[in-house]
Amino acid sequence: MFVWYRHSALTIVYLVDVLPSSEPGALANSTWNTRGWTVQEFLAPNTVLFHRADWTLYLDDRSPNHKMSVAIMQELEDSTGIDAQALIAFRPDMRGAREKLQWASSRVTTLQEDIAYSLFGIFHIHLPVIYGEKRQNALRRLLQEIIAHSGDITPLDWIGKSSEFNSCLPADITSYKTPLCMLSSLPEDEMNMSVSMLRNTVSAESTSKLYTLLDNLSAPRFAHSRLQLPCIAFPITELRRRRDPNLETCFTYDVKADGLQDLLITSEDKLIQFSPTRPTQQTFLLVRPWNRHDLELPDFAEPDFADDAQSVDDWPEPVSLTDGSIRGSLVDSNLADSEARLRELRLVVRLGQPFGALLLAQQRGGEYKRVASDHLIIAKVKDMASIDDTMDIGTLEIL
Ligand SMILES: *[C@@H]1O[C@H](CO)[C@@H](O)[C@H](O)[C@H]1NC(C)=O
Ligand SMILES: *[C@@H]1O[C@H](CO)[C@@H](O)[C@H](O)[C@H]1NC(C)=O
Ligand SMILES: *[C@@H]1O[C@H](CO)[C@@H](O)[C@H](O)[C@H]1NC(C)=O
Repeated sequence: MFVWYRHSALTIVYLVDVLPSSEPGALANSTWNTRGWTVQEFLAPNTVLFHRADWTLYLDDRSPNHKMSVAIMQELEDSTGIDAQALIAFRPDMRGAREKLQWASSRVTTLQEDIAYSLFGIFHIHLPVIYGEKRQNALRRLLQEIIAHSGDITPLDWIGKSSEFNSCLPADITSYKTPLCMLSSLPEDEMNMSVSMLRNTVSAESTSKLYTLLDNLSAPRFAHSRLQLPCIAFPITELRRRRDPNLETCFTYDVKADGLQDLLITSEDKLIQFSPTRPTQQTFLLVRPWNRHDLELPDFAEPDFADDAQSVDDWPEPVSLTDGSIRGSLVDSNLADSEARLRELRLVVRLGQPFGALLLAQQRGGEYKRVASDHLIIAKVKDMASIDDTMDIGTLEIL
Protein backbone atom coordinates (compact mmCIF):
# COMPACT_ATOMS: atom_id res chain seq x y z
CA MET A 1 0.00 0.00 0.00
CA PHE A 2 2.86 2.37 0.69
CA VAL A 3 3.94 2.13 -2.95
CA TRP A 4 0.37 2.70 -4.14
CA TYR A 5 0.10 5.90 -2.14
CA ARG A 6 3.59 6.89 -3.26
CA HIS A 7 2.73 6.63 -6.94
CA SER A 8 -0.77 8.06 -6.62
CA ALA A 9 -1.52 11.33 -8.43
CA LEU A 10 -3.71 12.24 -5.46
CA THR A 11 -4.51 10.56 -2.17
CA ILE A 12 -7.85 11.53 -0.66
CA VAL A 13 -8.35 11.26 3.07
CA TYR A 14 -12.03 11.23 4.06
CA LEU A 15 -12.54 12.16 7.71
CA VAL A 16 -15.93 10.71 8.55
CA ASP A 17 -15.96 12.16 12.07
CA VAL A 18 -14.93 15.70 11.15
CA LEU A 19 -18.04 17.85 10.78
CA PRO A 20 -18.29 20.80 8.38
CA SER A 21 -18.60 23.14 11.38
CA SER A 22 -15.44 21.80 13.05
CA GLU A 23 -12.67 23.98 14.37
CA PRO A 24 -8.96 23.60 13.65
CA GLY A 25 -7.76 20.60 15.65
CA ALA A 26 -10.50 18.30 14.43
CA LEU A 27 -8.13 16.47 12.08
CA ALA A 28 -5.72 15.89 14.95
CA ASN A 29 -8.63 14.64 17.06
CA SER A 30 -10.16 12.43 14.38
CA THR A 31 -10.25 8.64 14.69
CA TRP A 32 -8.28 8.52 11.45
CA ASN A 33 -5.34 10.06 13.29
CA THR A 34 -5.28 7.30 15.90
CA ARG A 35 -4.88 4.39 13.50
CA GLY A 36 -1.65 2.64 12.62
CA TRP A 37 -2.13 2.21 8.89
CA THR A 38 -2.95 5.87 8.38
CA VAL A 39 0.64 6.99 9.04
CA GLN A 40 1.67 5.93 5.56
CA GLU A 41 -1.48 7.52 4.11
CA PHE A 42 -0.06 10.95 4.84
CA LEU A 43 3.67 10.16 4.62
CA ALA A 44 3.81 8.33 1.30
CA PRO A 45 1.80 10.46 -1.14
CA ASN A 46 3.19 13.54 -2.79
CA THR A 47 -0.26 15.07 -3.03
CA VAL A 48 -2.93 14.65 -0.40
CA LEU A 49 -6.28 16.31 0.31
CA PHE A 50 -8.26 16.05 3.54
CA HIS A 51 -12.05 16.09 3.32
CA ARG A 52 -14.67 16.52 6.03
CA ALA A 53 -17.73 14.34 6.53
CA ASP A 54 -19.72 16.28 3.90
CA TRP A 55 -16.80 16.10 1.42
CA THR A 56 -15.88 19.78 1.75
CA LEU A 57 -12.17 20.47 2.16
CA TYR A 58 -10.77 20.47 5.67
CA LEU A 59 -10.52 24.04 7.05
CA ASP A 60 -11.90 25.13 3.65
CA ASP A 61 -8.29 25.05 2.58
CA ARG A 62 -8.30 25.19 -1.21
CA SER A 63 -4.60 24.56 -1.80
CA PRO A 64 -4.22 21.99 -4.59
CA ASN A 65 -2.18 19.92 -2.15
CA HIS A 66 -2.63 19.96 1.61
CA LYS A 67 1.06 19.16 1.99
CA MET A 68 1.46 22.82 0.98
CA SER A 69 -0.91 23.99 3.72
CA VAL A 70 1.13 25.32 6.62
CA ALA A 71 -1.82 25.10 9.04
CA ILE A 72 -2.67 21.48 8.23
CA MET A 73 0.94 20.29 8.25
CA GLN A 74 1.49 22.07 11.55
CA GLU A 75 -1.57 20.36 13.00
CA LEU A 76 -0.27 16.99 11.87
CA GLU A 77 3.19 17.72 13.21
CA ASP A 78 1.79 18.72 16.61
CA SER A 79 -0.41 15.67 16.90
CA THR A 80 1.91 13.00 15.47
CA GLY A 81 5.30 14.29 16.57
CA ILE A 82 6.53 13.94 13.00
CA ASP A 83 8.43 17.00 11.89
CA ALA A 84 6.38 18.88 9.25
CA GLN A 85 9.32 19.01 6.86
CA ALA A 86 9.88 15.25 7.14
CA LEU A 87 6.17 14.76 6.70
CA ILE A 88 6.09 16.71 3.43
CA ALA A 89 9.23 15.23 1.87
CA PHE A 90 9.18 11.76 3.38
CA ARG A 91 11.51 9.07 2.07
CA PRO A 92 11.15 5.46 3.09
CA ASP A 93 14.40 4.08 4.48
CA MET A 94 15.89 2.80 7.71
CA ARG A 95 17.22 6.10 8.91
CA GLY A 96 15.96 7.40 12.23
CA ALA A 97 14.57 3.98 13.10
CA ARG A 98 13.90 4.77 16.72
CA GLU A 99 11.91 7.88 15.88
CA LYS A 100 9.77 6.02 13.35
CA LEU A 101 9.01 3.34 15.92
CA GLN A 102 7.90 6.10 18.25
CA TRP A 103 5.49 7.44 15.60
CA ALA A 104 3.65 4.13 15.66
CA SER A 105 3.91 3.55 19.40
CA SER A 106 0.63 5.18 20.39
CA ARG A 107 -1.44 4.09 17.40
CA VAL A 108 -3.89 1.23 17.11
CA THR A 109 -4.76 -1.39 14.51
CA THR A 110 -7.63 -3.86 14.40
CA LEU A 111 -5.36 -6.84 13.81
CA GLN A 112 -2.53 -7.12 16.31
CA GLU A 113 0.16 -7.91 13.73
CA ASP A 114 -0.71 -4.83 11.69
CA ILE A 115 1.07 -2.31 13.89
CA ALA A 116 4.36 -3.89 12.77
CA TYR A 117 3.21 -4.52 9.20
CA SER A 118 2.10 -0.89 8.83
CA LEU A 119 5.76 0.11 9.19
CA PHE A 120 7.19 -2.14 6.46
CA GLY A 121 6.62 0.45 3.73
CA ILE A 122 7.84 3.30 5.93
CA PHE A 123 11.14 1.46 6.52
CA HIS A 124 11.28 0.24 2.91
CA ILE A 125 11.43 -3.34 4.14
CA HIS A 126 10.15 -6.36 2.24
CA LEU A 127 9.01 -9.04 4.65
CA PRO A 128 6.21 -11.55 4.35
CA VAL A 129 2.93 -10.83 6.09
CA ILE A 130 1.95 -13.78 8.28
CA TYR A 131 -1.37 -13.12 10.04
CA GLY A 132 -1.70 -15.34 13.08
CA GLU A 133 1.95 -14.94 14.12
CA LYS A 134 0.86 -12.48 16.88
CA ARG A 135 2.12 -8.96 17.47
CA GLN A 136 5.29 -9.93 19.33
CA ASN A 137 6.59 -12.01 16.48
CA ALA A 138 5.65 -9.44 13.84
CA LEU A 139 7.46 -6.76 15.82
CA ARG A 140 10.46 -9.05 16.34
CA ARG A 141 10.80 -9.67 12.60
CA LEU A 142 10.57 -5.96 11.87
CA LEU A 143 13.16 -5.00 14.49
CA GLN A 144 15.57 -7.77 13.53
CA GLU A 145 15.41 -6.68 9.92
CA ILE A 146 16.09 -3.05 10.83
CA ILE A 147 19.04 -3.93 13.05
CA ALA A 148 20.47 -6.45 10.57
CA HIS A 149 20.31 -4.10 7.60
CA SER A 150 21.20 -0.78 9.15
CA GLY A 151 23.42 -1.78 12.08
CA ASP A 152 21.41 0.82 13.97
CA ILE A 153 21.04 -0.20 17.61
CA THR A 154 18.63 2.54 18.65
CA PRO A 155 15.70 0.05 18.46
CA LEU A 156 17.22 -1.48 21.62
CA ASP A 157 16.40 1.77 23.39
CA TRP A 158 13.02 1.14 25.03
CA ILE A 159 11.46 0.66 28.44
CA GLY A 160 8.86 -1.85 29.50
CA LYS A 161 8.55 -5.60 29.12
CA SER A 162 10.92 -7.84 27.16
CA SER A 163 9.75 -9.89 24.23
CA GLU A 164 9.54 -13.64 24.74
CA PHE A 165 11.89 -14.09 21.75
CA ASN A 166 14.78 -12.01 22.95
CA SER A 167 15.26 -9.99 26.10
CA CYS A 168 16.70 -7.06 24.13
CA LEU A 169 13.53 -6.60 22.10
CA PRO A 170 10.34 -5.15 23.57
CA ALA A 171 7.12 -7.16 23.79
CA ASP A 172 5.11 -4.27 22.49
CA ILE A 173 5.55 -1.23 20.28
CA THR A 174 4.24 0.98 23.12
CA SER A 175 7.68 0.56 24.71
CA TYR A 176 8.91 3.17 22.23
CA LYS A 177 6.63 5.94 23.51
CA THR A 178 9.44 7.68 25.37
CA PRO A 179 11.69 9.70 23.09
CA LEU A 180 15.07 8.35 22.08
CA CYS A 181 17.68 8.78 24.76
CA MET A 182 19.74 11.57 23.15
CA LEU A 183 22.64 12.18 25.41
CA SER A 184 25.76 12.17 23.36
CA SER A 185 25.44 15.41 21.42
CA LEU A 186 28.12 17.64 22.81
CA PRO A 187 28.53 21.25 21.71
CA GLU A 188 31.50 21.63 19.38
CA ASP A 189 33.33 24.10 21.62
CA GLU A 190 33.05 21.78 24.64
CA MET A 191 34.27 18.93 22.46
CA ASN A 192 37.27 21.02 21.45
CA MET A 193 38.01 21.94 25.04
CA SER A 194 37.87 18.33 26.20
CA VAL A 195 40.03 17.24 23.28
CA SER A 196 42.78 19.72 24.09
CA MET A 197 42.62 18.70 27.75
CA LEU A 198 43.01 15.03 26.88
CA ARG A 199 45.70 15.55 24.28
CA ASN A 200 48.33 15.83 26.99
CA THR A 201 46.95 13.30 29.45
CA VAL A 202 46.25 10.20 27.37
CA SER A 203 48.88 8.56 25.21
CA ALA A 204 48.51 8.28 21.46
CA GLU A 205 49.21 4.58 21.77
CA SER A 206 46.30 3.84 24.07
CA THR A 207 43.74 5.93 22.16
CA SER A 208 44.79 4.40 18.89
CA LYS A 209 44.49 0.89 20.34
CA LEU A 210 41.06 1.69 21.73
CA TYR A 211 39.91 3.06 18.39
CA THR A 212 41.15 -0.03 16.58
CA LEU A 213 39.40 -2.36 19.01
CA LEU A 214 36.10 -0.58 18.54
CA ASP A 215 36.57 -0.29 14.81
CA ASN A 216 37.13 -4.01 14.67
CA LEU A 217 33.80 -4.87 16.32
CA SER A 218 31.35 -6.56 14.01
CA ALA A 219 27.84 -5.27 13.45
CA PRO A 220 25.06 -6.38 15.77
CA ARG A 221 23.15 -9.34 14.41
CA PHE A 222 20.48 -11.85 15.31
CA ALA A 223 20.81 -15.57 14.81
CA HIS A 224 18.41 -18.15 16.27
CA SER A 225 16.76 -15.47 18.42
CA ARG A 226 20.12 -14.62 19.97
CA LEU A 227 21.51 -11.14 19.64
CA GLN A 228 25.23 -10.75 19.08
CA LEU A 229 25.75 -7.31 20.53
CA PRO A 230 29.02 -5.40 20.15
CA CYS A 231 29.42 -3.42 23.33
CA ILE A 232 31.60 -2.06 26.10
CA ALA A 233 30.92 -3.92 29.34
CA PHE A 234 31.22 -2.65 32.90
CA PRO A 235 31.00 -5.38 35.57
CA ILE A 236 28.70 -4.54 38.46
CA THR A 237 30.41 -4.85 41.81
CA GLU A 238 27.57 -3.93 44.10
CA LEU A 239 23.80 -3.97 43.87
CA ARG A 240 21.60 -3.01 46.85
CA ARG A 241 17.88 -2.52 47.03
CA ARG A 242 16.65 0.73 48.52
CA ARG A 243 14.06 0.58 51.25
CA ASP A 244 11.34 2.71 49.78
CA PRO A 245 7.81 2.04 51.01
CA ASN A 246 6.36 4.33 48.33
CA LEU A 247 7.42 2.05 45.57
CA GLU A 248 5.11 -0.91 45.51
CA THR A 249 5.43 -2.15 41.95
CA CYS A 250 9.06 -1.29 41.31
CA PHE A 251 12.32 -1.81 43.10
CA THR A 252 15.08 0.77 43.16
CA TYR A 253 18.69 -0.33 43.34
CA ASP A 254 21.91 1.46 44.16
CA VAL A 255 24.44 0.17 41.69
CA LYS A 256 28.23 0.36 41.58
CA ALA A 257 30.11 -0.81 38.53
CA ASP A 258 33.79 -0.90 37.64
CA GLY A 259 34.71 2.29 35.82
CA LEU A 260 31.29 3.92 36.15
CA GLN A 261 29.89 6.55 38.46
CA ASP A 262 27.37 5.16 40.97
CA LEU A 263 23.83 5.05 39.68
CA LEU A 264 20.23 4.06 40.40
CA ILE A 265 18.23 1.45 38.54
CA THR A 266 14.47 0.90 38.80
CA SER A 267 13.00 -2.40 37.73
CA GLU A 268 9.92 -4.51 38.30
CA ASP A 269 12.24 -7.49 38.67
CA LYS A 270 13.55 -8.46 42.06
CA LEU A 271 17.30 -8.76 41.63
CA ILE A 272 19.86 -10.56 43.74
CA GLN A 273 21.61 -8.13 46.06
CA PHE A 274 25.35 -8.38 46.39
CA SER A 275 28.48 -6.49 47.35
CA PRO A 276 32.22 -7.17 47.54
CA THR A 277 31.70 -8.60 51.06
CA ARG A 278 28.63 -10.60 50.04
CA PRO A 279 29.46 -11.74 46.51
CA THR A 280 27.16 -13.62 44.15
CA GLN A 281 27.87 -16.37 41.63
CA GLN A 282 25.95 -14.60 38.91
CA THR A 283 27.66 -11.92 36.83
CA PHE A 284 25.82 -8.66 36.21
CA LEU A 285 26.98 -6.15 33.65
CA LEU A 286 26.08 -2.69 32.57
CA VAL A 287 26.82 -2.43 28.89
CA ARG A 288 27.08 0.36 26.43
CA PRO A 289 25.83 -1.00 23.09
CA TRP A 290 28.37 -0.02 20.51
CA ASN A 291 27.31 2.50 17.93
CA ARG A 292 29.63 2.79 14.91
CA HIS A 293 28.71 6.41 14.34
CA ASP A 294 30.84 7.38 17.31
CA LEU A 295 33.91 6.35 15.33
CA GLU A 296 33.40 9.08 12.73
CA LEU A 297 34.03 6.64 9.93
CA PRO A 298 32.70 7.53 6.50
CA ASP A 299 28.96 7.07 6.69
CA PHE A 300 28.64 3.91 4.65
CA ALA A 301 25.66 2.56 6.57
CA GLU A 302 23.35 5.20 5.19
CA PRO A 303 23.51 5.37 1.42
CA ASP A 304 22.51 8.73 0.06
CA PHE A 305 18.99 8.65 -1.28
CA ALA A 306 19.31 12.14 -2.68
CA ASP A 307 18.11 11.36 -6.19
CA ASP A 308 14.51 12.47 -6.27
CA ALA A 309 13.79 10.98 -9.66
CA GLN A 310 14.25 7.39 -8.54
CA SER A 311 11.10 5.51 -7.68
CA VAL A 312 10.72 3.76 -4.35
CA ASP A 313 11.37 0.39 -5.89
CA ASP A 314 14.56 1.47 -7.63
CA TRP A 315 16.21 2.52 -4.42
CA PRO A 316 19.15 0.43 -3.39
CA GLU A 317 18.95 -1.83 -0.38
CA PRO A 318 20.80 -0.35 2.55
CA VAL A 319 24.37 -1.60 2.64
CA SER A 320 24.94 -4.21 5.30
CA LEU A 321 27.56 -3.39 7.86
CA THR A 322 29.03 -6.85 7.70
CA ASP A 323 30.61 -6.22 4.33
CA GLY A 324 31.83 -2.83 5.42
CA SER A 325 35.52 -2.93 4.77
CA ILE A 326 35.27 0.66 3.64
CA ARG A 327 37.55 2.87 5.65
CA GLY A 328 38.62 6.45 5.38
CA SER A 329 41.51 6.20 2.96
CA LEU A 330 43.99 8.00 5.11
CA VAL A 331 46.88 9.54 3.32
CA ASP A 332 50.19 8.65 4.85
CA SER A 333 51.21 12.07 6.01
CA ASN A 334 51.57 14.06 9.19
CA LEU A 335 48.28 15.72 8.46
CA ALA A 336 46.53 12.37 8.30
CA ASP A 337 48.25 11.34 11.49
CA SER A 338 46.97 14.34 13.37
CA GLU A 339 43.50 13.82 11.88
CA ALA A 340 43.52 10.25 13.13
CA ARG A 341 44.68 11.42 16.53
CA LEU A 342 41.95 14.03 16.63
CA ARG A 343 39.33 11.44 15.71
CA GLU A 344 40.58 9.10 18.42
CA LEU A 345 40.49 11.84 21.03
CA ARG A 346 36.98 12.83 19.97
CA LEU A 347 35.96 9.22 20.43
CA VAL A 348 37.36 9.20 23.97
CA VAL A 349 35.45 12.40 24.75
CA ARG A 350 32.23 10.81 23.49
CA LEU A 351 32.86 7.72 25.57
CA GLY A 352 33.14 10.06 28.55
CA GLN A 353 29.59 11.34 27.98
CA PRO A 354 26.55 9.87 29.73
CA PHE A 355 24.99 6.99 27.82
CA GLY A 356 21.94 4.74 27.88
CA ALA A 357 23.06 1.43 29.39
CA LEU A 358 21.57 -2.04 29.33
CA LEU A 359 21.56 -4.14 32.48
CA LEU A 360 22.53 -7.74 31.70
CA ALA A 361 22.49 -10.81 33.91
CA GLN A 362 24.57 -13.83 32.98
CA GLN A 363 22.76 -17.14 32.49
CA ARG A 364 23.96 -20.65 33.20
CA GLY A 365 25.14 -21.20 29.65
CA GLY A 366 27.35 -18.11 29.74
CA GLU A 367 25.00 -16.02 27.63
CA TYR A 368 23.32 -12.92 28.98
CA LYS A 369 19.80 -11.73 29.42
CA ARG A 370 18.67 -8.16 29.61
CA VAL A 371 16.87 -7.13 32.77
CA ALA A 372 14.04 -4.87 31.65
CA SER A 373 14.03 -1.53 33.39
CA ASP A 374 11.23 0.90 34.04
CA HIS A 375 13.36 3.91 33.33
CA LEU A 376 16.24 4.48 30.98
CA ILE A 377 19.48 3.61 32.73
CA ILE A 378 21.82 6.53 32.32
CA ALA A 379 25.44 5.74 33.11
CA LYS A 380 28.66 7.74 32.90
CA VAL A 381 32.27 6.68 33.14
CA LYS A 382 34.12 7.82 36.23
CA ASP A 383 37.07 9.45 34.62
CA MET A 384 37.46 10.25 30.94
CA ALA A 385 41.25 10.21 31.17
CA SER A 386 41.16 6.62 32.40
CA ILE A 387 39.26 5.39 29.33
CA ASP A 388 41.72 3.23 27.51
CA ASP A 389 42.28 -0.09 25.86
CA THR A 390 41.80 -1.95 29.14
CA MET A 391 38.05 -1.40 28.79
CA ASP A 392 36.11 -4.59 28.29
CA ILE A 393 35.22 -4.41 24.61
CA GLY A 394 33.66 -7.27 22.72
CA THR A 395 30.56 -8.98 21.44
CA LEU A 396 28.11 -10.51 23.93
CA GLU A 397 25.53 -13.14 23.15
CA ILE A 398 22.16 -12.15 24.54
CA LEU A 399 19.17 -14.48 24.81
C1 LIG B 1 -9.56 18.04 20.46
O1 LIG B 1 -9.46 17.28 21.67
C2 LIG B 1 -9.09 18.05 22.79
C3 LIG B 1 -8.89 17.10 23.96
O2 LIG B 1 -9.85 16.12 23.99
C4 LIG B 1 -10.17 19.10 23.07
O3 LIG B 1 -9.79 19.89 24.19
C5 LIG B 1 -10.34 19.98 21.84
O4 LIG B 1 -11.41 20.88 22.05
C6 LIG B 1 -10.60 19.14 20.61
N1 LIG B 1 -10.60 20.02 19.45
C7 LIG B 1 -11.49 19.91 18.46
C8 LIG B 1 -11.40 20.93 17.38
O5 LIG B 1 -12.32 19.04 18.43
C1 LIG C 1 36.81 23.00 17.00
O1 LIG C 1 38.03 22.57 16.43
C2 LIG C 1 38.02 22.43 15.03
C3 LIG C 1 39.35 21.85 14.56
O2 LIG C 1 40.16 21.43 15.57
C4 LIG C 1 37.74 23.77 14.39
O3 LIG C 1 37.67 23.64 13.00
C5 LIG C 1 36.41 24.30 14.91
O4 LIG C 1 36.19 25.59 14.38
C6 LIG C 1 36.40 24.34 16.43
N1 LIG C 1 35.05 24.71 16.86
C7 LIG C 1 34.79 25.50 17.88
C8 LIG C 1 33.35 25.80 18.14
O5 LIG C 1 35.65 25.93 18.62
C1 LIG D 1 39.89 -7.99 14.96
O1 LIG D 1 38.93 -9.08 15.03
C2 LIG D 1 39.43 -10.32 14.60
C3 LIG D 1 38.30 -11.33 14.59
O2 LIG D 1 37.34 -11.06 15.55
C4 LIG D 1 40.58 -10.75 15.51
O3 LIG D 1 41.10 -11.98 15.08
C5 LIG D 1 41.67 -9.67 15.44
O4 LIG D 1 42.70 -10.01 16.34
C6 LIG D 1 41.09 -8.31 15.81
N1 LIG D 1 42.11 -7.28 15.62
C7 LIG D 1 42.39 -6.36 16.54
C8 LIG D 1 43.42 -5.38 16.19
O5 LIG D 1 41.82 -6.34 17.62
